[in-house]
Amino acid sequence: MSVASDGLEGIVAAETVLSHVDGDRGRLIFRGHDIGDLAGRTSQEAVAALLWSGFVAAEPTAIAGALGTARGVALEIARPLLPLARGLSPVEGLRLLLAALPDTATTPHPVLATAAMPVFVAALQRDRLGHPPILPDPTLSQAADFLRMLRGAPAETAHVAALETYLVTVADHGLNASTFTARVVASTRAGVFSSVVAALCALKGPLHGGAPGPVLDMLDAIGTDDRIEPWLEQAIGRGDRLMGFGHRVYRVRDPRADVLKGVALSLRGGANRIRFAEAVEAGALRVLARLKPGRRLDTNVEFYTALVLEALALPRDLFTPIFAVGRVVGWTAHILEQTQGGRIIRPASAYVGPMPKAAA
Ligand code: ACO
Repeated sequence: MSVASDGLEGIVAAETVLSHVDGDRGRLIFRGHDIGDLAGRTSQEAVAALLWSGFVAAEPTAIAGALGTARGVALEIARPLLPLARGLSPVEGLRLLLAALPDTATTPHPVLATAAMPVFVAALQRDRLGHPPILPDPTLSQAADFLRMLRGAPAETAHVAALETYLVTVADHGLNASTFTARVVASTRAGVFSSVVAALCALKGPLHGGAPGPVLDMLDAIGTDDRIEPWLEQAIGRGDRLMGFGHRVYRVRDPRADVLKGVALSLRGGANRIRFAEAVEAGALRVLARLKPGRRLDTNVEFYTALVLEALALPRDLFTPIFAVGRVVGWTAHILEQTQGGRIIRPASAYVGPMPKAAA
């Protein structure tokens, strides 16, 4: 009989000062601050300063400037590689560009990795539309500069604020699959950029950071109110997972879902879409309770992430790369924490195969 925990459920694999996910109470804490007190009130730069504190040798006040300067460095790394990314999906293109960050870089690596994300995503998107990349503006915030580099024009204040809230909300989340992956790679001393590339590879799966695009596909496929429950019942009957629902740790509603629902409601033009999404959400919760009794499945962060990013008129296949623009802050904090104190992560396996035959 195997002694392994399926999916490592319930296994504590690290001690961290960075974030705490209380799955029973629906609470998320970043270094002593509830997510509801940070989201909408602080910038990605401030959350980076909070999470990197004690790990990155940069004054909090200097982090915004360092990220601004590093965005320029990142663009020069990306520029010659953009033709190689043509034909790849945006997340594959991002994987390619991140892999080119040199371990010899003199910019502090967490800063360069974080600065590179918005630059790379914007440059990849413009390149596939046949446009050259736009030079970063080091005086802007990451959120404002990202939207400007992506769209070719300064973004309206409400859009910058919405994206900022999203980036802060998803900055860190305990030992989720991508962060755990980052820590495993970091534990071998492979370096920050290798750990970030590995984290992105874990993030892109549909059970993790790949879920929000399919959330919108689901809303489109359902189409009208009368089809909600029959469509969802059929999907579960086929053995499909409902995207944007369920979580390994939360047994109640993911607190990030409400933060992002508020953001989606604050953006212009999406009232009908959000009303329909709310109806689908309510239908999904009823169907899951009926067909998956005993599981306590609730709404997760990805459901309203999809609505926020759609209201910002961002293409669906950029949703996972944009998740990485936010989550890289947490990845790099965990990489540094792991590197400072941790041993190589090397769990054991239980062998359940055949034993060699005894010699005659
Ligand atoms: N739809 C339908 N059934 C589900 C769902 C869902 N969204 N989530 C869980 N279940 C059911 C399944 O029957 C599953 O059993 P199976 O493996 O026999 O099919 C069972 O509940 C597993 O439940 P849990 O133990 O609570 O789930 P687990 O921890 O293994 O997986 C996960 C968590 C991957 C998030 C899962 O709920 C899921 O696939 N959700 C849909 C994808 C999604 O929204 N991902 C984003 C998560 S948030 C993030 O990563 C940023």
